[in-house]
Amino acid sequence: MGQYTRRKFLSAGAAGATAIGFAPLLAACRESVGEVAAPYAVFKGGLVLSTWDFGMKSNEEAWRVLQAGGAALDMAEKGVNLCEADLSALSVGLGGLPDREGKTTLDACIMGPDGKAGSVMFLENIRHPASVARRVMEKTPHVQLVGEGAYQFAISEGFTHDDYKNPEAEKAYRQWLTESKYEPVINIENHDTIGLLAMDTRGDIAGACTTSGLAYKMRGRVGDSPIIGAGLYIDNEVGGATSTGLGEAVIRTCGSFLVVEMMRRGATPAEACEEAVRRVMKKHDNWREFQVGFLAVNKAGDTGAFALQEGFSYALHKEGKGELVRSNWLKN
Ligand code: GLY
Repeated sequence: MGQYTRRKFLSAGAAGATAIGFAPLLAACRESVGEVAAPYAVFKGGLVLSTWDFGMKSNEEAWRVLQAGGAALDMAEKGVNLCEADLSALSVGLGGLPDREGKTTLDACIMGPDGKAGSVMFLENIRHPASVARRVMEKTPHVQLVGEGAYQFAISEGFTHDDYKNPEAEKAYRQWLTESKYEPVINIENHDTIGLLAMDTRGDIAGACTTSGLAYKMRGRVGDSPIIGAGLYIDNEVGGATSTGLGEAVIRTCGSFLVVEMMRRGATPAEACEEAVRRVMKKHDNWREFQVGFLAVNKAGDTGAFALQEGFSYALHKEGKGELVRSNWLKN
């Protein structure tokens, strides 16, 4: 990883304990294990960042929510809802490419500044899985609901059954059936998940992540996107992170949690994302064959990203204007 600068809150060590007194030493110890908020000013201008170019429109929607007085959690939910509602998208929402049985199954999660989280996995026939995830968080004592249970919960919450089939996804599936090659590898240019991180004008951070997952996946397969700590993690004292790419590799490294913990210890968002990508690389001999990307924001409003392969970009909306930012990647 790039050498990041650890915050040297106090370096007196044990010898300095008598001179500086016990309370500061305790504070220093707590700092070293990450229990104390970062000493920089919290950014309160509002910002949104999300994966891939389809994030541009989602960011604009989240920004509209912010301007209408919405909080970070509303920004995150409504932002990704826009992408879920795009039925031409082949990797998010009901228009997504199906599993190998021909059924589109959806994974999503959401996490708020209060540390609460909700998630749905292997959900079918519901247009807005991220909103169902929010209901799981707000209306149940649980974090995760899966499959038929998640569907029943969604219906009980007033979501409607939706049989939509994307003709383009069906055509691609029929083509895939001619060989039925089971190759659970994400193409490095595949725009898969939308992961979105939002910061409101209080400086609070929330995030959401939603996808139809790996194309032609084994039935019941769940990726990183609905797994708190893998596809998304928020710690409102530190920042937030989200991921895209081959979910199995992200889950094995608890990727988004790792990014946030690196930031807690002083890494910039870009440095933290790079460290998580390098962790993925070390654990996978075949890392050249798939893509993983992370993006992150800290409480100062600094943002950054890093990917295994060239080709990852993220959408950033800050100070009222949006741009598509090309992520750095491993070049060795
Ligand atoms: N990152 C999406 C998935 O692996 O399902």
